[in-house]
Amino acid sequence: MSLILVTGGTGTLGRQVVPRLRDAGGEIRVLSRRAHEDADGIEYMPGDLATGEGIEAAVEGAGIILHCAGSSKGDEDKALNLARAASRAGVQHLVYISVVGADRIPVVSGVDRAMFGYFASKLAAERVVADSGLPWTTLRAAQFHDLILMVAQQMAKLPVIPVPAGIRFQPVDAGEVAARLVELALGAPAGLVPDMAGPRVYEVADLLRGYLRARRKHRLMVPVRLPGKAARAVRAGANLAPQRAVGHRTWEDFLAEREGARLAT
Ligand SMILES: NC(=O)c1ccc[n+]([C@@H]2O[C@H](COP(=O)([O-])OP(=O)(O)OC[C@H]3O[C@@H](n4cnc5c(N)ncnc54)[C@H](OP(=O)(O)O)[C@@H]3O)[C@@H](O)[C@H]2O)c1
Repeated sequence: MSLILVTGGTGTLGRQVVPRLRDAGGEIRVLSRRAHEDADGIEYMPGDLATGEGIEAAVEGAGIILHCAGSSKGDEDKALNLARAASRAGVQHLVYISVVGADRIPVVSGVDRAMFGYFASKLAAERVVADSGLPWTTLRAAQFHDLILMVAQQMAKLPVIPVPAGIRFQPVDAGEVAARLVELALGAPAGLVPDMAGPRVYEVADLLRGYLRARRKHRLMVPVRLPGKAARAVRAGANLAPQRAVGHRTWEDFLAEREGARLAT
């Protein structure tokens, strides 16, 4: 098996991808902005996809790239820097992780951009990958449980929680997404593959209630209506994939395990 470069191999998703790839027998290199000691057959290379620094060296010799690096802004530029270097290096398969609804959430106004600009930048990055001239695969996943948990933790710090009315999520387990990405990376380039979302669709208030119950907290929730076209599309379910509810682990399963681990420490 050829060398596999994982960008974002230190993130929530990437940390679940790397050991699965290693177990599949892959020789792995991880790109990170920070220095790490090589460990367990994993080579770490410093680089920044936003500036392009270190990218040429990181892609050298890689046959497959799993591009899991991302942030709330600028994913198009990161993808562009990576795809250019990958093309020059003759990479045989570029695999990208995007988000469900990237193509269905209109980001037209400043209000849309402020709240949902992430979706537009994921769509732009998808296009960079598809137009790179490299054989490619893109998977759109729904929000990970970890992200919902982080948001719930932040919101629960408030005495009264503003809850976006009519907005739902279909959270999926990052480990299950990681397993699917590994399968895709080791298979033939497949273009845009079917979406991956979790087993259930929840109102935001229900996700929060689950969290508050698990933490034995009580908070008042107040519905707020988000303005703009993007929010309207999300209220209509543009961020959901009910026909692709292929994930198994529910929000309740995730919370129970996290809470169990928290209480045990
Ligand atoms: N979280 C979700 O709910 C969700 C849902 C669908 C799709 N996705 C997509 O899945 C991917 C991973 O998400 P995640 O939640 O695992 O993210 P995360 O935990 O925030 O991790 C982000 C990763 O990106 C790397 N990174 C960020 N900026 C970089 C840069 N300029 N150069 C190099 N590396 C950079 C970070 O590496 P260092 O800090 O080590 O440099 C880190 O490993 C993203 O593309 C995201 O859009 C996420």
